[in-house]
Amino acid sequence: LYVIQIAVEMAPVAKVGGLGDVVCGLSKALQKKGHLIEIVLPKYDCMQYEHIRELRALDVEIESYFDGQLFKNKIWVGTIEGLPVYFIEPHHPNKFFWRGTFYGEHDDFKRFSYFSRAALEFLLRAGKKPDIIHCHDWQTAFVAPLYWDLYAHKGLNSARICFTCHNFEYQGTAPASELASCGLDVDNLNRPDRMQDNSAPDRINAVKGGVVFSNIVTTVSPTYAQEVRTAEGGRGLHSTLNFHSKKFIGILNGIDTDAWNPATDTFLEIQYNANDLQGKAENKEVIRRKLGLSSRDAQRPLVGCITRLVPQKGVHLIRHAIYRTLELRGQFILLGSSPVPQIQREFEGIANQFQNHDQIRLILKYDESLSHAIFAASDMFIIPSIFEPCGLTQMIAMRYGAIPIARKTGGLNDSVFDVDDDTIPSQFRNGFTFLNADEQGLNCALERAFNLYRNNPESWQKLVQKDMNIDFSWDSSAALYEELYSKAVARARAAAK
Ligand code: ADP
Ligand code: GLC
Repeated sequence: LYVIQIAVEMAPVAKVGGLGDVVCGLSKALQKKGHLIEIVLPKYDCMQYEHIRELRALDVEIESYFDGQLFKNKIWVGTIEGLPVYFIEPHHPNKFFWRGTFYGEHDDFKRFSYFSRAALEFLLRAGKKPDIIHCHDWQTAFVAPLYWDLYAHKGLNSARICFTCHNFEYQGTAPASELASCGLDVDNLNRPDRMQDNSAPDRINAVKGGVVFSNIVTTVSPTYAQEVRTAEGGRGLHSTLNFHSKKFIGILNGIDTDAWNPATDTFLEIQYNANDLQGKAENKEVIRRKLGLSSRDAQRPLVGCITRLVPQKGVHLIRHAIYRTLELRGQFILLGSSPVPQIQREFEGIANQFQNHDQIRLILKYDESLSHAIFAASDMFIIPSIFEPCGLTQMIAMRYGAIPIARKTGGLNDSVFDVDDDTIPSQFRNGFTFLNADEQGLNCALERAFNLYRNNPESWQKLVQKDMNIDFSWDSSAALYEELYSKAVARARAAAK
């Protein structure tokens, strides 16, 4: 198959959260299976260019339509992790991708609807004939309606569209008239069965457009796929998802097991594997020294947490976990940052409170290298999300031998199974879970983890080794995408006959 991913994040060059990991990891896994995979990204000024090999501009510039005019786009090509990637650099006076940031700009709707149109225009002009165009999240959901409105009848007509929504909290809505900017027909699309927002009829909804106009719609875990089909979980889109349920499926993400491998991780001072846990203990000492935490008690459990600090992640429970860990005589390291100024300020207050404390450290920034060191050093890892489409940190934590303590929701429910839950076959039990998103629920799971760690070190070590050996690679999930793609292509061919 020939698959083109159109996305706004890709690890390691442009990563805000898990979307970046998925675009890279899934693409690598599909490429390994023998498919031709290409990726199209915006050319952000703030990318980590050192990870792009052989970056060069193509000779021909591509014109694309926006707000009644044609704008030129310079197209760049390079290789990231062995994958061919095209970058779109618009010659637009608004300098859409020259903002020193990936998202969160007042004109994000314009920035990404522009990008979606320019990406399709590029595929058409470059004579690309993909079997599948796979777009991700609201920022590139526009690709689906754009494709059927403007491109399916041109040279790109062999493609089927796959849309993955990584988080239904972010739907990309705007006044209906905004849709016209990228050349879409507002009257045609501003209808309840098309792109009209289900709760605000004067607005259109990009994710809804992705759902309605794609051949395949996925989200990132089976449990979350069920949750978003309910009125409580669907953020207004449950009826649309139920209507389109035949093409909608939840597939659990994998992780890139090359990038996340404690045995080869170059971010770590000491590499280790499941048969050499001494190396893990040494990583704990390294980070304690580095961050000024006490090393007096080597056996003191270290709890890690690495996250965007947004309400989804259960920030009040994270805050509670810091204090509860201290009461339980553990150590806690939080690495996170927040796009919400109030939350960022609140955690800065806590960070200051513990500035000179020798058991607690809060580092309120994005730091890739430190994240690896924390996964390696932690004994336990906390993910108390209110909702979680998939979540990658619980899987990374397990691969690094940090036992997850997670709330049973979304993808956490599909990947973390409680050691004490005898409804689950014992070989699958790998962590500590709790159901209620409150302090009691969290306390109970955290205390059970501390008890096992302190009172039964042998069982703890076995659990660590077991978790490190779980297969979280993309192999099986990529095979599911492969199957969906193939079926969609076969249906299209049968229909064309
Ligand atoms: P989400 O995409 O909702 O943020 P995921 O668990 O899917 O959550 O993915 C988060 C990814 O971002 C993980 O790879 C995690 O290690 C990384 N990450 C989150 N916050 C930070 C941070 N402050 N510094 C470094 N990496 C981070
Ligand atoms: C989103 C979700 C997260 C998921 C990630 C990758 O950011 O919040 O749960 O793991 O996308 O699919």
